[in-house]
Amino acid sequence: MTDLRRQLTDANTVVFAELGLPVEFARVTTSDRPDLADFQSNGAMAVAKVAKRPPRDIALSIQEKLAGHPLVSAIDIAGVGFINFRVSNDALTRRVQDIADSPRAGASEAATSHRVMIDYGGPNVAKPMHVGHLRSSIIGESIKRIYRFRGDVTLGDAHFGDWGFQMGLLIVAATDENPDLSDVVTFIDNGGDTATAAKAIDSLIDLDMLERLYPVAAAQAKADTDYRDRARKATADLQSGREAYRAIWRQFVIVSRVALEREFHALNVDFDLWKGESDANDLLGPMAEDLTAKTLLVPDQGAQIVRIAREDDKRELPPLIVVSSEGSAMYGATDLATIVDRRNTFDPELILYCVDQRQADHFEQVFRAAYLAGYAAEGTLEHIGFGTMNGPDGKPFKTREGGVLKLHDLIEMTRAKARDRLKEAGLGGELEPEAFEDIAMKVAVAALKFADLQNYRGTSYVFDLDRFTSFEGKTGPYLLYQAVRVKSVLRRAAEEGEPDGPIIIREQAERDLGLILDGFDAAVIEAYEKKAPNFVAEHAYRLASGFSKFYAACPIMGAPDADVRASRLALAAAALKQLERAIDLLGFDAPERM
Ligand code: ARG
Repeated sequence: MTDLRRQLTDANTVVFAELGLPVEFARVTTSDRPDLADFQSNGAMAVAKVAKRPPRDIALSIQEKLAGHPLVSAIDIAGVGFINFRVSNDALTRRVQDIADSPRAGASEAATSHRVMIDYGGPNVAKPMHVGHLRSSIIGESIKRIYRFRGDVTLGDAHFGDWGFQMGLLIVAATDENPDLSDVVTFIDNGGDTATAAKAIDSLIDLDMLERLYPVAAAQAKADTDYRDRARKATADLQSGREAYRAIWRQFVIVSRVALEREFHALNVDFDLWKGESDANDLLGPMAEDLTAKTLLVPDQGAQIVRIAREDDKRELPPLIVVSSEGSAMYGATDLATIVDRRNTFDPELILYCVDQRQADHFEQVFRAAYLAGYAAEGTLEHIGFGTMNGPDGKPFKTREGGVLKLHDLIEMTRAKARDRLKEAGLGGELEPEAFEDIAMKVAVAALKFADLQNYRGTSYVFDLDRFTSFEGKTGPYLLYQAVRVKSVLRRAAEEGEPDGPIIIREQAERDLGLILDGFDAAVIEAYEKKAPNFVAEHAYRLASGFSKFYAACPIMGAPDADVRASRLALAAAALKQLERAIDLLGFDAPERM
């Protein structure tokens, strides 16, 4: 069943046609004044000019024709010709019953399904994840879930940063530091058995070592050109296939990935593919040939570039550097070759890149090059940029020491806060320690994710753990708390053998909750079309507070009549189902109790 807004639009369209008015103006929207009406139509004003009739006059004709329609209980005309609708309790009851019976909680599926790839997370080998990766993971995961829910075939790819200069740098730093490791390099270079070597490498490299070496090596490469050149050489050797370096690199990738996956899973973030920049390596050579044949790749000061500037550009966009003057593949080149790889393997109709807004130029360069080369159809590559998570100083969040905040530390911090909050609120006190920990983790994830997703992704926001973890206000923990309240009512009803039954909307608070439930479909569609989960977040919050108001106004177990109890139980269950759907689309979930 379609939502009430569309049902009303359909009814209004019939009337417009009967009155000889252009039907495209028959659209009905949710009311700007919920105190006066549920829905409204501004069509009379819009058509007045073409119809050469005063808007109020048109509105009156529409009102007359729609009077007595089973969808509406009142139609009023306000001002110069706004038409206000109140939906009938019968129509609302039918719609809410439909939502209660639908496994999709009232949300529709798109008419056609598309193959969509979502590139998000973007973690790097050995470099700790920072808040940009956190936002990318949170937003990307939610967009993926929303797309999947609408019926698209989605593939989420981490696009692991496992190639390029930082790899050569780490190889130099690690072999400089550890003579055993450089012995292994000599061993393999001299034709030693790689299986034996792999075992040795396995015992010589761990994540702590990489995280310790990387910042030091990066700083040294900036200051010391000899060192930098050695790292560049190592990068080129790695990329062109020097076996000893590949073996070390493989171990870098393994240890980083294991740790990163743990972090991502703690946040309910999962990838269908964990491909990396390195996976594009073998495509780089053929791609360069192809680009050359298409006369797109041209030499420029020792490098090979693709010019992507357009005449109508308002500001100058530099060319895409495909091969650097040292002969190594650049970030833009691996991204371009990755598009080729994705086309060959999945043939996506759309690729969404959930990456920090500050990389907008990079993606514009890559996309233009891909369109020029015919690797993707114009408009099928889209950068889903986002703002930063800031500290109290308004700058991208840093630790007190001024460094990047590791994701792991952020999660731990939030968990500690969630435990305090639960205790403060007197929640979970009677639970076993293990169950309490599980709930604290769920509260922490909800706090972080909802704080992020409730803002339109383009805006930046300030990291405020106190506010994020509060059980009151527009927060993730508030949503969980309301979900748990419904669950406990339903549990009690089940224990007492109290059945649910047909929904009948009577009271104002039931109407209000019913109208919110009806709005879920529109919220999901808007989030989908704008690639912006905040519309789902907003809906989840309205729903949670709508339930809370309903519960305050309409006792459930305490309702005097059995059929009222049964109806309210069913309404509460429908609200819970939709709330759990919504928060699942945001990427978190509610505990059973707390
Ligand atoms: N690894 C990159 C970084 O840390 C992000 C990757 C984003 N995705 C992409 N296809 N370039 O900045």
